[in-house]
Amino acid sequence: MHTYRVGTDVTVLNDHQEIPGLGYLPINAFVLHAREPVVVDTGLSLPDRHFVEDLGAVMDPADVRWIWLTHPDRDHTGGLFDLLEAAPHARVITTFLGAGILSTERPLPLDRVYLLNPGQQLDIGDRSLHAFRPPLFDSPATTGFYDDRSRVVFSSDCFGAPLPSAELATGTDVRAVPPTPCAPGSCCGPPSTALGCTGSTTTPTCATCGRCSRSTQT
Ligand SMILES: [Fe+2]
Repeated sequence: MHTYRVGTDVTVLNDHQEIPGLGYLPINAFVLHAREPVVVDTGLSLPDRHFVEDLGAVMDPADVRWIWLTHPDRDHTGGLFDLLEAAPHARVITTFLGAGILSTERPLPLDRVYLLNPGQQLDIGDRSLHAFRPPLFDSPATTGFYDDRSRVVFSSDCFGAPLPSAELATGTDVRAVPPTPCAPGSCCGPPSTALGCTGSTTTPTCATCGRCSRSTQT
């Protein structure tokens, strides 16, 4: 685990995992150093990962008050139950769907769950966290948030993607990632600003690679 600070209020706990044939997936969890400290996601679910131990290098896990689970994918839930044990006052922020999905594998203690939906907000003492559904996500339970004090947005997997090397997956500045051709099919729907597509609905063109992926598929 590689940790670094972003601004005054956020520490990134960065990990990565090779996906053969695709590249290296960055996997980030975060500490929001608020009056009521928040851990955002809890890392990979692999036996050689020790999330709570790694978190201990950043803060005392016993002081964690909130665990904001952006969604219950296995690369976000690795240290969840260990952290619940280490942080007796912490509650897990998730949606009804997120709690349900998690509990199919191992029941979440419902008295430790705080349900929060996109559009709602939570006061954590020195700031409010505003929950929202990012424009792109890989789980229907996804909930990101905006911290109105540090003005940091936690967007869950909205910008998640495998990168060409482990060095890039552990990098601290996304501007180091070179532009690469878009995946086939990325512009097959209506033009999407989020995907960098321009052009008409019938002939979308990717702003990054200049190709119309629909025409290459037909
Ligand atoms: Fe995910």
